[in-house]
Amino acid sequence: MSMLEKNPESVLIDNFGRQITYVRISVTDRCDFRCVYCMAEDMTFMPRSEILSLEEIAVLARNLVACGVTKIRLTGGEPLVRSGVVDLVGSISQLPGLQELCMTTNGSRLQELAEPLRQAGLDRLNISLDSLDHERFHELTRTGQLSKVLAGIDAARAAGFEHTKLNVVVLKGRNDDEILPLVRYALNHQLDLSFIEEMPLGVITEHDRAEAFFSSDDIREAIRDEYVLESVGDDTGGPSRYYRIPGHPGRIGFISPHSHNFCGDCNRVRVTTEGRLLLCLGNEHSMDLRAVLRDGPRDDRSVDERVRAALHASMAIKPEKHHFSHDEPPQILRFMNATGG
Ligand code: GTP
Ligand code: 5AD
Ligand code: SF4
Repeated sequence: MSMLEKNPESVLIDNFGRQITYVRISVTDRCDFRCVYCMAEDMTFMPRSEILSLEEIAVLARNLVACGVTKIRLTGGEPLVRSGVVDLVGSISQLPGLQELCMTTNGSRLQELAEPLRQAGLDRLNISLDSLDHERFHELTRTGQLSKVLAGIDAARAAGFEHTKLNVVVLKGRNDDEILPLVRYALNHQLDLSFIEEMPLGVITEHDRAEAFFSSDDIREAIRDEYVLESVGDDTGGPSRYYRIPGHPGRIGFISPHSHNFCGDCNRVRVTTEGRLLLCLGNEHSMDLRAVLRDGPRDDRSVDERVRAALHASMAIKPEKHHFSHDEPPQILRFMNATGG
């Protein structure tokens, strides 16, 4: 064990006193879907040489956990389109000190992969589901097949995953009439559910983000037509505000980057597909960890020392907050798929 691991000062604390305990890692920018709010129809993906190898991701994970990170979420793009990702889960899940290893997926490959992922030590899944109507699902994802995702959700349950969460991005005029059906589906399947306001990441042409904006307040109003919503004070340090429906075990979360400011207790950073440590989803402040991994001696000890020094140095540039606006042009030109959701 190195000196750094023994030293309590090795945890990551930024200039605003926030400790980083949660890291989201995008393992690929590729995806088998093209969701209208996430991607342009015609996307150019990164060349292989620019993206981190699975071994490099594992090295970052090892050092993040050594610096006090307790939760890692693998995202994309679609993490399950990257071959070898189950083995990556297997190696990260072994790290002593890691409390939770999660994945955010579109569910299209879960029918085959839910069981191997569970065996490899994955703790929890979040699955995107924006519509329960086959045709509309295909329109919103441009390529997706609803039946596969529904089968994937069932496979996750059969494999023993608990507290699986559905993510719904609500777009006015596209799926806002499905808020109640999606709530019923989640309750019937004992799933948690998150409603997400669309965020202005990347330039899309398919719809006008300002016109499609549907606020969390309006979503809650739609749910209250049929259900009682009780606010719960679960504070996960995340952007979700949680509610419960009496008599049901699941939670309903609302992610409102426009209307609520949750930056004050932010506990997370992201690693992009090309190995950029991104200090905030709504800003460009970042540190090039790929260069840190690749430039210099490659023995484990030297790499670990460089990575940890870089992680600590990056704390000085974590911004205090983000400024998203749904009626201004996007300030952030990165797309969500390379960012780690
Ligand atoms: P858990 O709380 O672990 O279930 O995960 P999560 O809801 O943070 O993760 P998930 O990958 O399911 O993300 C859901 C949505 O929350 C995505 O649209 C994310 O981009 C968004 N999100 C996650 N973290 C942040 C954040 O720090 N800032 C903002 N603005 N949005 C975030
Ligand atoms: N705004 C809000 N959510 C988005 N997602 C992808 N792009 C956007 C966006 N521009 C969501 C997906 C997935 C989660 C990781 O991010 O639906 O559930
Ligand atoms: Fe793929 Fe997720 Fe983006 Fe949809 S939101 S295109 S599933 S990365």
